Amino acid sequence: MALRNTKVSLSDISLRPFKESDLEDYMIIMNDNTASKFCTWNSMDKEEALNALLSVIYTHPWYRAICVKDRPIGYVSVNQGEGSDGCRAEIGYVVGSAYWGQGIATHALKMVISSIFSELQGLERLEALIDVDNLRSQRVAEKVGFIREGVLRKYWNPKGTPRDMVIYSLLKTDTPVPKKKKILCCIPV
Ligand SMILES: CC(C)(COP(=O)(O)OP(=O)(O)OC[C@H]1O[C@@H](n2cnc3c(N)ncnc32)[C@H](O)[C@@H]1OP(=O)(O)O)[C@@H](O)C(=O)NCCC(=O)NCCS
Repeated sequence: MALRNTKVSLSDISLRPFKESDLEDYMIIMNDNTASKFCTWNSMDKEEALNALLSVIYTHPWYRAICVKDRPIGYVSVNQGEGSDGCRAEIGYVVGSAYWGQGIATHALKMVISSIFSELQGLERLEALIDVDNLRSQRVAEKVGFIREGVLRKYWNPKGTPRDMVIYSLLKTDTPVPKKKKILCCIPV
């Protein structure tokens, strides 16, 4: 049974590669029309989902399920360039809409950022291309330290109409976003 509309504790979030047994959860993610509004796909039947898992995701160098208690509710992928483009990689992420607004994407991206520059050889720059109207995703990128560089006009055509995309980057040398400090007490003196 899929986990739905559940209040999530961030300590239950983990990232791991997809498994064939994740097919049902992967289909829920890929058939979420709210989540796919700014993405290339609308829906996926079982055969298409299995094919994507086996031929695209398993062979992908860096594609992780965002899990709650080990059940996938989204994904994050990092696509590093090759050769002279190997200094940069593009990050993509989706969280099922039933889980939005709980800090899950922010938490997952912080996990990625904490290790990706040491995991991927030669990586100096992580970039995110986000639709100008996708304010939620822009907010997530900014919360984890990405810098907004500008707008690429009519840059991407996911659903039949070319879209303006905001380009964000995070460099290996950028200062990490500090963890929130808990204020235990505040006694006026
Ligand atoms: C973008 C996405 C991953 C965010 O997931 P999430 O788990 O809800 O994100 P978080 O809860 O960590 O953070 C969301 C932030 O956006 C803010 N937000 C929500 N709606 C917003 C809006 N209309 N305008 C501005 N900010 C908004 C929230 O308030 C929150 O910020 P806060 O913590 O400062 O309050 C999710 O909405 C998603 O999967 N969308 C569809 C796929 C997608 O767009 N992927 C990105 C492509 S680059």
